[in-house]
Amino acid sequence: MSIRMYDIIEKKKNGEELTRDEIFSMINEYTKGNIPDYQMSAWLMAVCFRGMSDRETFELTEAMALSGDTVDLSAFGSRSVDKHSTGGVGDKTTLIVAPLVAASGGIVAKMSGRGLGHTGGTVDKLESFPSFRTTLSADEFANQVKDHNIAVIGQSADIAPADKKLYALRDVTATVNSIPLIASSIMSKKLAAGTRSIVLDVKYGSGAFMHTKEDAEKLANMMVKIGNYHNRRTAAIISNMDIPLGYAIGNSLEVTEAIDVLNGNGPDDLREVCLTLASLMIERSCNIPHEDARERVENTLKSGKAYEKFCEWIEAQGGDVSYAHDPANFGKAKYSMDVISDTDGYISSCNTEKIGIAAMILGAGRQTAESTIDHRAGIILSKKTYDKVSKGDVIARLYTEKEETLEASRECLLSSLVFSDNRTNKEPLIHKVIS
Ligand code: URA
Repeated sequence: MSIRMYDIIEKKKNGEELTRDEIFSMINEYTKGNIPDYQMSAWLMAVCFRGMSDRETFELTEAMALSGDTVDLSAFGSRSVDKHSTGGVGDKTTLIVAPLVAASGGIVAKMSGRGLGHTGGTVDKLESFPSFRTTLSADEFANQVKDHNIAVIGQSADIAPADKKLYALRDVTATVNSIPLIASSIMSKKLAAGTRSIVLDVKYGSGAFMHTKEDAEKLANMMVKIGNYHNRRTAAIISNMDIPLGYAIGNSLEVTEAIDVLNGNGPDDLREVCLTLASLMIERSCNIPHEDARERVENTLKSGKAYEKFCEWIEAQGGDVSYAHDPANFGKAKYSMDVISDTDGYISSCNTEKIGIAAMILGAGRQTAESTIDHRAGIILSKKTYDKVSKGDVIARLYTEKEETLEASRECLLSSLVFSDNRTNKEPLIHKVIS
């Protein structure tokens, strides 16, 4: 190893800038196992206190992106496009946006994650379809993208392995919460995944990773800068996760709600976030003005072509498409319970993370990476923030295969809600678009 890790830690501790060589050597040697976790932890903690310059952050991202396999999508020219959400509750946007963009002229080649804790993951939702394949070989992935303009698979272990190791270390050393570290972690995987354009949905609020709009904006700005620096046409929206998105939380329940939107129905908030993301993606991947992109995706949704593309996609990845034609095939979980209001008034706010936890308790999410999930478990909300409720109204319906979880979930859900006598002012759904 040509660098001394001790010197790099010392430099960062003193707030000095690292050189490109130092950053690349550190990441390469750490990936190979030549730098011990205790030294890397010390460096991460120094970054938490001292920060990183833009240049350092760009280079850290690049070094992590190049630490493993990279996907070559050059055959698709400038049309390949990806989206990423920083995660939330009821966030099923990929299920809608991916076929919507593919049916509007974009090429969606995407790696998605699984849910952990209170947030859900696209891969789990897709696995609600019997026999849907979330692992494809590199050739199968490329062929599907060529034939259908859409493929969504699970994150390969060989993509940005440096980030995988670093993220696990940050998780246990209280060093997750640093804008350059989060931004470089997310963007290293996006760069390695190879698309020419990237659209980010950075969520803020009680159900999001970033609790304030200001922090979400700082993170979004940094990720957009990283993407653009590395020649990816990048944009971000800052969206509200103080309220779950849509009404369904839990895997097959969310797929059903997504199919509703693709069929021209479904909740307004979910449709609007999807149309905004899809128009930013089409603007970039088809190189057309934003207004034209918005009109195009609205027409695609209205015409039913996005729904047709959804069915084509599910079938192409081996899923049982009869479930897309008739979501009643997913079936209902064995046990259910209505959550009844014992208050008159308005819901003035909610703790969205707690609603995600209430769904996790029912079996919809994982407490640890090893937990198994139950695709039919979850929550259908009937009331959300700003709604009027009367004593005896149903606020939500809980679904589970484990009857003993119902009461704990009900209590968790009720404890998430704050009631008031008057309706509170509505926060915008989309706080900002950064492009
Ligand atoms: N998600 C990531 O992939 N990395 C982070 O650092 C935080 C969230």
